[in-house]
Amino acid sequence: MSRGKFITLEGIDGAGKSTHLNFIAEHLRALGKPVLTTREPGGTPLGEMLRDLLLSQAMHVETETLIMFASRREHIHKVIVPALEKGLWVISDRFTDATYAYQGGGRGIAVERLKNLEDWVQNGLQPDLTLLFDVPLEVSQQRLSFNQSLDRFEQEKQEFFSRVRQAYLDRAHTFPQRIKLIDSTRSIAEIQTSLCGLLDQLVPQ
Ligand code: TMP
Repeated sequence: MSRGKFITLEGIDGAGKSTHLNFIAEHLRALGKPVLTTREPGGTPLGEMLRDLLLSQAMHVETETLIMFASRREHIHKVIVPALEKGLWVISDRFTDATYAYQGGGRGIAVERLKNLEDWVQNGLQPDLTLLFDVPLEVSQQRLSFNQSLDRFEQEKQEFFSRVRQAYLDRAHTFPQRIKLIDSTRSIAEIQTSLCGLLDQLVPQ
């Protein structure tokens, strides 16, 4: 059994990534791949408890960063690596690019600090493919405005999301092989066509 592939979905809140998670999973299943979907922060019982704290409790930005990585350590150890080793394709709704974007770009934590934590926690694990769903802020803010109860991150100001988006775009520029930009202002059908093209490249013929 060959090792599975690791795919992550990223984007600012309101960019529409979660809408496409099921489509991606079903497309891969149709190609004969066993799929596990998961998310960060979260993905394990402890990680989901940490998620609740992260989304609801005010905390120091370094505390927030460390809890993100603590949740990730548990997720990698208990879920992601065992699944990949069993041959499952793992799709995670967010992973470490989100920490560079939100805690780095959004909150100002130095990239070198994040890199140290990434090296420690991931031990070389990187996604095979990252799909970065991108929309202008006016679009994401309008989508969020339909949401009745916004969490601690979703309540942030437009300037925060502007920095987060820029940090994501900078990472896509730095890692063009891994991070693929998806223009999420297009119709769902057009986005799905792009997704199929990118996913099919990962599947051995
Ligand atoms: P979600 O709404 O996409 O499930 O993500 C929850 C929030 O957590 C989202 O606003 C982004 C934030 N987040 C970070 O700030 N840093 C991270 O490393 C991750 C994984 C998520």
